[in-house]
Amino acid sequence: MANLIFFGAPGAGKGTQAKMLAQELDLIHISTGDLLRIEVQNQTELGLIAKSYMEKGELVPDDVIISMVENIVKNATKGFILDGFPRTIPQAKALDEMLKKYNLKIDKVIFLDVPKDELVQRLLKRAQLEGRTDDQDPNVIENRINVYNEKTFPVLEFYQSLNKLVKINGVGEINEIYQAIKNAIN
Ligand code: AP5
Ligand code: MG
Repeated sequence: MANLIFFGAPGAGKGTQAKMLAQELDLIHISTGDLLRIEVQNQTELGLIAKSYMEKGELVPDDVIISMVENIVKNATKGFILDGFPRTIPQAKALDEMLKKYNLKIDKVIFLDVPKDELVQRLLKRAQLEGRTDDQDPNVIENRINVYNEKTFPVLEFYQSLNKLVKINGVGEINEIYQAIKNAIN
């Protein structure tokens, strides 16, 4: 049983790669962004709170996200991939406590490294293919990347100090990147 974190900037390929690996290894794919978009779509109380942050490219408050993840992790009967979580130092610390509580651990943190120009190009392209509102406005994309650099990137150091971090070049063919990830976790 493997528990993994997929880490990277908006557009780095976390979702693309996590979906493939979760299917092949029979893991639960926990994408906090996808979960939030379902809440928004269903116009739940949580969705209404989340929407105002997401459409600006800001992070949804930590407590909301942490309880959402805990609800899944505590009932997990197989390994999981966290995609888009943790995204702040308080989220990383909360995850740590949560894992201790349920006697679980993270095996590896896969960091998909992609330069900013490529991220922006991918998200603008996706804006035309899919209906994600946070991809439509270049200013919102810019803000998501800035928020990542300020609040999320520092989380990497936390995992580096625990010796769990694997950096993967996230530029290139999707299948080549997938192979590199599989090599890294074996
Ligand atoms: P979230 O849904 O997590 O969005 P994100 O971080 O902005 O990342 P993306 O989903 O855009 O990118 P990705 O890395 O998954 O890349 P993908 O595989 O899709 O979060 C959205 C919002 O929710 C946040 O802004 C925040 O408001 C809130 N939120 C979520 N989690 C939160 C948390 N923990 N705390 C607080 N708030 C939270 O690929 C992108 C595109 O590139 C696709 O079109 C794909 O087809 C393409 N692509 C993928 N790989 C390649 C490749 N190798 N070459 C070319 N194109 C590629
Ligand atoms: Mg994603």
